[in-house]
Amino acid sequence: KKEPIAVQGAMDVEVSALLDAMGDYKEEKYGNYSFYVGEIEEIPVVVSRTEVGMVNAAASTTLLIEKYQPKAIINQGTAGGHDPNIHVFDTVIGTEVMNIGSFRSEHLDEGQGMKPEKWIHMTTDIREADGETKEYAALPSDEKLVEAALSVADQYEYGEVVEGKIGSGDWWNREIDRIQWFHENFGTSAEEMEAFAVAQVAHVQDIPFLSIRTISNSEVTDDNIEDLEKAGQYGAEFSVEVVKAIGK
Ligand code: 5AD
Repeated sequence: KKEPIAVQGAMDVEVSALLDAMGDYKEEKYGNYSFYVGEIEEIPVVVSRTEVGMVNAAASTTLLIEKYQPKAIINQGTAGGHDPNIHVFDTVIGTEVMNIGSFRSEHLDEGQGMKPEKWIHMTTDIREADGETKEYAALPSDEKLVEAALSVADQYEYGEVVEGKIGSGDWWNREIDRIQWFHENFGTSAEEMEAFAVAQVAHVQDIPFLSIRTISNSEVTDDNIEDLEKAGQYGAEFSVEVVKAIGK
């Protein structure tokens, strides 16, 4: 049995174009997580609907690895733009992902208020295979998978394909000052709610990881569009091309 390429999306709109590309597939459920097992041009694929948010992403990725032993995990879907030069329907290849829900604050006295712009990012401690813990401010996508994604960038018709840093957390930020603070202090290109959790689980299991996100909304451009449905579909169609590039 050949190891499949796994492609994740949190919501139906982010997986349906992948299911269309498989045509025939079998649905397997573990708890409330659905996995769709099939092929794209004879490449074994498992599509995983992770559901929304960091906890779902981590739980479903653990199941994915246990049940299917994927040779690569592509986490893809929609995202909100942080970079004023990245527009709705552009697609970001996430060369690295960071946890933008992981912060600590310094002590303030009662009545001194809340100062989110003073919050300090907390790194993630990961116990490595050798038993030692290492601190990560961000986790990288696999270089070969990034290359494969870039190799099909010219096939994407709905906008630009750019490399960037993805921020993940159980957050939907619409405050422009906060978005700019993330972009300026951490270099985030876009935000979403799953990639870092997936990268963290994949890292400890030593499975190559790739983040791909299509911008569905942005507060920092004058696009004035919010379309999860279209962005989800465009991103999933692009991911089909990435699967073919990895599989050949
Ligand atoms: N902020 C956070 N998550 C977003 N998503 C799309 N745009 C944003 C945004 N601006 C994605 C998340 C989650 C769902 C709500 O859509 O990854 O799965």
